[in-house]
Amino acid sequence: MIGVLVSGGGTNLQALLDAGLPVVAVASNRRDAPALARAGALATAAFELDDYASRDARDAAMAAWLEEHGARLVVLAGFMQLLTPAFLQRFPDRIVNVHPSLLPDFPGAHPVEDQLAAGVRESGATVHLVDEGVDSGPILAQERVPVLPGDTPETLHERIKTVEHRLLPQVVRELCAR
Ligand code: GRF
Repeated sequence: MIGVLVSGGGTNLQALLDAGLPVVAVASNRRDAPALARAGALATAAFELDDYASRDARDAAMAAWLEEHGARLVVLAGFMQLLTPAFLQRFPDRIVNVHPSLLPDFPGAHPVEDQLAAGVRESGATVHLVDEGVDSGPILAQERVPVLPGDTPETLHERIKTVEHRLLPQVVRELCAR
């Protein structure tokens, strides 16, 4: 059973749902994340940092909520905050992230813009296990995506997301089968 963390538009969450994967709960660090509307009848909750005394307290509450809803695997589908050990230790080796670059190249919050600024000819999508670093855990799957002449951050990100929407459900399905 899968818990999903989101911050933004939620197209990767949508891909997991469309693939029929057993998502049981969706949490966000933003009450107004459009992704939450995609969850339909699933349990949803917002865990905004401002509502907690510390990042650890927020992460502990979010982990407890996911566990209460039966989540055994956690997928970060466009979740834009770093998680502390208070969260990571509750799901050891069972947290997966999707990132729009060929990690370890271009980690961080603006990878698409950074790749265009660097003039790379090739980008990609990576699915990896999450550790305490920034986009730094062991890589589970990776696929290349061409950068085309005239690409903007929007056009390149859309091309990468098309790959993410196939790659992420595929990896998550394999992890569920273990
Ligand atoms: C994706 O490109 C993902 O790799 C990155 O943030 C984006 C989230 O998109 N971490 P969405 O919210 O799933 O549409």
